Amino acid sequence: MYSRVQGTGSYLPSRIMTNHELAEQVDTSHDWIVERTGIHQRHIAARHENSSDLALAAALQAISAAGIEADEIDLIVVATTTPDLVFPSTACLLQQKLGVANGCPAFDVQAVCSGFVYALSVADNFIRAGQAKFALVVGTETMSRITDWSDRSNCILWGDGAGAVILTASDTPGVISTHLHADGRYRDLLCVNGGVSSGADGAYAMRMQGSAVFKIAVKTLDAIVDETLAANNLQKSDINWLVPHQANIRIIQATAKKLGMSMNNVVVTVDKHANTSAASIPLALDTAVRDGRIRSGDVVLMEAFGGGFTWGSVLLKWV
Ligand code: COA
Repeated sequence: MYSRVQGTGSYLPSRIMTNHELAEQVDTSHDWIVERTGIHQRHIAARHENSSDLALAAALQAISAAGIEADEIDLIVVATTTPDLVFPSTACLLQQKLGVANGCPAFDVQAVCSGFVYALSVADNFIRAGQAKFALVVGTETMSRITDWSDRSNCILWGDGAGAVILTASDTPGVISTHLHADGRYRDLLCVNGGVSSGADGAYAMRMQGSAVFKIAVKTLDAIVDETLAANNLQKSDINWLVPHQANIRIIQATAKKLGMSMNNVVVTVDKHANTSAASIPLALDTAVRDGRIRSGDVVLMEAFGGGFTWGSVLLKWV
């Protein structure tokens, strides 16, 4: 038993914040942001939009693309760092909003920017074990809510959005392999400096040592590419598409170089979406599926790196 992606969907809030607009708030410039990150703009959720609302819009598209009824879903996994509530989970809120009342399991996965890769791996394992047939896997984030908008070294990076896939049981892969890792010793390099259990005062926000994160991300993503190819006895040239986590164009370019891959075969959305954390890969995937770049038979490598640190990859064949 394998799993395969049967449909994709995504959602971006309508409000676009340009670099020029940001430059009116903090001491930065459009040119600096583009040169260091490749980001031109980001989408920002409206006050009434929470992560589960973004997830709902993306999920409805994925369900429609897969040609199934919401009630056929028998597993919901939501990757998010920015849940609506402490509990219930965003997955339970999404289940209710979708009107899925069949009692299927629904839970969140928290691996920050690696969240979607983690969630896809979890759902793949449920399907391989015969415990689910139609899994809804979502990455959804309202990173704008944990961004310190006065910190110019950080606030330029983030955006809001959601992406979703329906993962279906299949006789053939589909998902070829998944590889997940974490190393909590790096907790302080990229974190939110407060939370529920440690005593939240409501004033916490993301903190990051940008250049240290950058260097470790490039090295780690190099290693996960090697690990994924070796595990499947594949050559670099066997990969048709790289769908990377969209953190920084320079990190993406480094991974493409490692793969000996032209940027024409890399799905890039960081310029328009910025870093949407767990939503970035499914947003990029949906973009390239809908515009016809990713086609049946293509081998697609997704990879991500995020706070924790966490990192991982999913290799799949587009069916
Ligand atoms: N505009 C203008 N100048 C800025 C700035 C901004 N938005 N942010 C920082 N600077 C300044 C710094 O103050 C520093 O000035 P100084 O030399 O006078 O001290 C200078 O630019 C260089 O700072 P540095 O932090 O070394 O820049 P950088 O080239 O590393 O770029 C990031 C900063 C954040 C863009 C980059 O480190 C990065 O993208 N890191 C990875 C972040 C990431 O992807 N995190 C998520 C992982 S999932």
